[in-house]
Amino acid sequence: MKNIGVFTSGGDAPGMNACIRAVVRTAINYGLRIFGIRQGYEGMIHGEIFEMNARSVSNIIQAGGTILVTARSESFLTKKGRVTAVDNLKRFGIEGLVGIGGDGTLHGAEKLFKESDIKIVACPGTIDNDLYGTDYTIGYDTAINTALEAIDKIRDTAAAMDRLFLVEVMGRHSGFIALDVAIAGGAEGVLVPEAKGDYEKVYQVLETGIKKGKHTNIIVIAEGEEFGGANNLAKHLQEQFGIKSWVTVLGHIQRGGSPTARDRILASKLGAASVRALMDGTNGVMIGEVQSKITFTPFKLAFTKKKKLDKDELELIDILAN
Ligand code: F6P
Repeated sequence: MKNIGVFTSGGDAPGMNACIRAVVRTAINYGLRIFGIRQGYEGMIHGEIFEMNARSVSNIIQAGGTILVTARSESFLTKKGRVTAVDNLKRFGIEGLVGIGGDGTLHGAEKLFKESDIKIVACPGTIDNDLYGTDYTIGYDTAINTALEAIDKIRDTAAAMDRLFLVEVMGRHSGFIALDVAIAGGAEGVLVPEAKGDYEKVYQVLETGIKKGKHTNIIVIAEGEEFGGANNLAKHLQEQFGIKSWVTVLGHIQRGGSPTARDRILASKLGAASVRALMDGTNGVMIGEVQSKITFTPFKLAFTKKKKLDKDELELIDILAN
């Protein structure tokens, strides 16, 4: 293998730049030519491919976002789009690809793996941490620390004014961010898509707290939670129980910012491992890290097998809310 390409796809995640840097410099270290593809699968279709060198990735390790730019491509879902993408990659002599992204990126990678002879591996880059085959995804640690910083600030007002705050965090289909942030932020409760939500339970937590002399309350809600987020919960608490609450939706601040050391290290290790994997002839897998060891998980398994939330952590919230 002489020429490889790297791209980011789907939602950006802090640490993607550190991963690009690792891919580029590892490739150069082993004498490969490395091409950047702008805007993920969309850029493949439009031929936005350019050669990179070691200096192309100078001074980006600390930067959020992605220098390669990213997109959620509709055209790549069509066979025609994918055929055009493969033709373009071949024009540049690209024989191997490293994709950096989440669930959608892996779905696209699986299609390329099945339909073309270009080898492809992926690094898990998403703040959601919802991919099977890696303990953590690139961006997750930064996202939970950003959300935590916000919750700590909200707690100041919650404590100063005896208020109930409902804080909505990201996580379309998974509650990893919500659960870890709830534990670290000392929340009184958490609602996640994986566990059946229950307004009655939220009410009881608040009621019990009041009886124990508790006046400050923070409930963390994952955006994908079945009742439709923090605003809906606020409405129900008011209408059903006459409880007033204040809502903060953290949104995209969780995707931005400088990656933590943990994310930079993970991104660097996985980026380097992905190039080595391609050179060894590996194909069709996500490169992850499980218990500090680099692992390869077939794309399909990584997005179909659900990584489980730790039920003990859910219980811990109740115990520590005492
Ligand atoms: O997958 C990462 C994520 O940030 C989810 O947590 C969130 O639901 C989604 O992306 C938002 O996507 P977009 O920025 O495209 O609206």
